[in-house]
Amino acid sequence: MSWNILITCEPFVQSGADAMRRLRDAGCELVTAPKFGPLTAEELTPLLNSAHAVVADLDHFTADVIRAAPKLKLIARWGVGCDAIDLDAANDRGVMVANTPGVLEETVADMTFALLLGATRGLATGHESMRAGDWSRTWGTGVHGRTLGLIGCGRIGTAVARRAKAFNLRVIAHDLAPRDEAKELGVEFYDLNSVLAESDFLSLHAALTPQTRDMLNAEAFGRMKPGAILINTARGGLVDEAALVSALNDGRIGGAALDAYVVEPLPAEHPLRTARNVLLTPHVASFTRDTGEAMGRLAADNILAALRGDRPPHLVNQPRVAK
Ligand code: GLV
Repeated sequence: MSWNILITCEPFVQSGADAMRRLRDAGCELVTAPKFGPLTAEELTPLLNSAHAVVADLDHFTADVIRAAPKLKLIARWGVGCDAIDLDAANDRGVMVANTPGVLEETVADMTFALLLGATRGLATGHESMRAGDWSRTWGTGVHGRTLGLIGCGRIGTAVARRAKAFNLRVIAHDLAPRDEAKELGVEFYDLNSVLAESDFLSLHAALTPQTRDMLNAEAFGRMKPGAILINTARGGLVDEAALVSALNDGRIGGAALDAYVVEPLPAEHPLRTARNVLLTPHVASFTRDTGEAMGRLAADNILAALRGDRPPHLVNQPRVAK
């Protein structure tokens, strides 16, 4: 049987030539969405009438979207986070959900460090001043010898901690299940409020769940060290963005370097774009060619396994009935 594969994920198309060739060679029909994701539920539903699988961006696979997709067997995320997918509905409908772990953690950790260094040393402002023909020098914040707090210390957080140790940072973290590797690196684990209170730099690496949504709210910003810098390469929904804008503009915290937002693309008029001391990037923490290609390979592996009737190697849910 040949499968129709809907592709909503632009970076998969840009970096996944080999992966697409493997899918076509296996007899799959690839259909690119008329607009790339993240797609809303309304945009997604009509595209799913004939799709057996989707190579998915951070599209909104709500319960209604999944229930309305008559042939859907597999949502193959290009990436690791599955927070935009209603996994219970997928389980109920026998829809498999798979992701691409193990190939992007170091790349995201590199970007986290780029944002940390960029924000502390004013790289964007220096660059803008030079572009404008000026020579305007601003004072930075020293990195070595300070304290980096990690909210969430799984694979990516641990990769960040490894880099931080080489920069002579003290690393503290909040995580409900501390990993041995992180402990061996010397990461100290504390409750959330202690990490908020002691961090000079606070970097988010938690999954977005109902429990973690908005965890960085006005109260949390109130607990942070004055002048602390927030780095977010995880999910925008971890942060109450209105509270962040206030904390930045009031000078309550020293700055923020962000790669993830509640609504993506970040609307052109969003107040974060003009908030004080921000360094903003458009959700590109995993965007290196090598990593993109590797993620594409894993997405194709997941689809080809499902097509053969096998369990996708990176299945993240437990579909109750095979469709
Ligand atoms: C990126 O955001 C991912 O989920 O991997």
